Amino acid sequence: MPIGIFDSGFGGLSVLRHVAARLPEHDMVYLGDSARAPYGGRSKEEVYHYVEEAVAHLMREAGCQLVVLACNTASADALRRIQQEWLPKHFPERRVLGVLIPVAERAAAMTVRGSIGVLATASTVASDAYLREIGKVLPAADVRQVACPLFVPLIEAGEERSPAMAYFVEKYVEKNAALQGVDTLVLGCTHYGFVEEQVRAALPADVAVLAGGEVVAERLVDYLRRHPEIDGLIGRGRRREFLTTGDPGAFARHGERFYGAGMSARQVVIVRDRLP
Ligand code: DGL
Repeated sequence: MPIGIFDSGFGGLSVLRHVAARLPEHDMVYLGDSARAPYGGRSKEEVYHYVEEAVAHLMREAGCQLVVLACNTASADALRRIQQEWLPKHFPERRVLGVLIPVAERAAAMTVRGSIGVLATASTVASDAYLREIGKVLPAADVRQVACPLFVPLIEAGEERSPAMAYFVEKYVEKNAALQGVDTLVLGCTHYGFVEEQVRAALPADVAVLAGGEVVAERLVDYLRRHPEIDGLIGRGRRREFLTTGDPGAFARHGERFYGAGMSARQVVIVRDRLP
């Protein structure tokens, strides 16, 4: 049984890269819902249904024992309901983990003055999930959330190094008064890992930038160590499979920029006829 890694598109590849570096033997299946990306401007209900379909596919068709929602928007809008309602009904013995809580906790541990900026999709910002999760660890934290609606479409279109991206980094980060004085900046969307360099360059050198990939990989390794009954069910064949709901050729071509050469993807249909 493989580990499933899910994202709306390419963003989760930044997580997969770190997870695969730490767990090279473990089998992994990546699913990007590129046909419906980006998720960031969608409603909570819509994101929930898409995530439910993706998790159902990864568990039923790909046989995943454990699925990581390598997407902050999915983690903010769907994780709790998947864990509390869907999983107990359909696969009570399997697990779904998210990325948002480990990253929020790390940010709370890193900050010096308690002032934390969070760049995220509009949907993640609307959920206030970072505000809530950082607040649980650090109730006095001053959390400034900034929605960056143009980042994901530009990254999905392969424009992460273009003048258009430079313009939006300046607008959302460099010239954003809301981020004045923060000592830690969270990249609260897995896609943003691919513009980490540009974001860092737009900030004063003493601001710490936290991209989630590494943190999520560490926490997953720790989780598997604490749950040998789950870890023992995961295959060790070094399998890496890439599934997309979009065009597989385009997915592989773009994906190689983020994951490395030699990637091939298969198209899958995950949409059910009727939503529950
Ligand atoms: N990469 C995702 C996230 O972490 C989703 C971005 C999107 O589809 O808008 O939020």
